Amino acid sequence: MKVDDVKKICVVGAGNMGHQISLLCAIHGYKTTCTDIVPEVLKKAENFADTYLPGRVKKGKMTEEQAKQARANVSFTGNLADAAKDADYVIEAVIEVVPVKRKIFAELDKLAPAHAILATNSSAIVSSSIADATKRPSQVVNLHFFNPALVMKLVEVVKGPHVSDETAQVSMDLCTKLDKVPILLKKEVDGFVVNRILGALTREALWLQEMGVASAEDIDKAMVYGAGHPMGPFRLMDLIGIDLQFTLDIERFKKTGDPATLPYPSVVERYTKGQYGQKTGKGWFDYSEK
Ligand code: 3HC
Repeated sequence: MKVDDVKKICVVGAGNMGHQISLLCAIHGYKTTCTDIVPEVLKKAENFADTYLPGRVKKGKMTEEQAKQARANVSFTGNLADAAKDADYVIEAVIEVVPVKRKIFAELDKLAPAHAILATNSSAIVSSSIADATKRPSQVVNLHFFNPALVMKLVEVVKGPHVSDETAQVSMDLCTKLDKVPILLKKEVDGFVVNRILGALTREALWLQEMGVASAEDIDKAMVYGAGHPMGPFRLMDLIGIDLQFTLDIERFKKTGDPATLPYPSVVERYTKGQYGQKTGKGWFDYSEK
């Protein structure tokens, strides 16, 4: 398969990442189906499309015709079979739980056409942990977008040992068509490139905060005004989700057995209180008034 054979994309999971990935594909001309098992999550994704696109027109970033076309390109359905049945490329963006992903990939293997590539947007789970749930392991790959997916340019394409050259190439080319900047990871590695580096930075930030060296707000200021980051590590945790931060730490601990990788107490505290960040209105900072 070549990238020009990709006409239809299916995005499984309409949450934090899926709602933006599906809209991104639609904006770039792909017929896109977005599916989720939770009706409220699906509705929220649809509402996002209905407000985001007119917002782009108002900002002068898109013509009315382009917005209309993008909206027509994306549809939302709770039915996985309908969403996947004629997809050429599938991007899974559901929760970071291996058995859940394996179950979905086994289903997708039956539902999607034989030529379709099945990608996971996982932040932490390498595709070799999932590929053997399908009969097409060479077509199962990591395609890792960054939050917010409509804005962040990078996509990590991870070529596990089972991934064919063709799958990796089509995935890289697809990212370019989506106006992203793809990088190819030639080996699977825990955390890939960005999350390994961001993880180290986040842990340092948490250590400084928990030791009482500086407040979360001031550490964020330090990284914005002293290191030129667009946002500090605490605001970033609130953006990506403290629930995801917790899961990433636990997954890393499971893999390494190193207690130093366990979530910091201040992360556990917020996780257990359901204070996940922007999506719940509170995390490190309060978003209830926005
Ligand atoms: N969704 C869609 N678009 C958004 C957005 C969102 N949530 N937030 C901002 N934008 C868009 C705005 O519409 C605007 O677009 P325009 O310039 O074309 O009009 C543009 O982004 C800039 O927005 P603002 O001026 O409102 O705000 P900022 O300039 O502060 O930018 C930001 C916001 C893009 C989020 C910026 O702060 C940033 O780049 N932060 C760092 C984000 C980051 O590091 N992401 C990676 C996280 S790690 C990850 O995702 C991996 C995962 O595995 C955990």
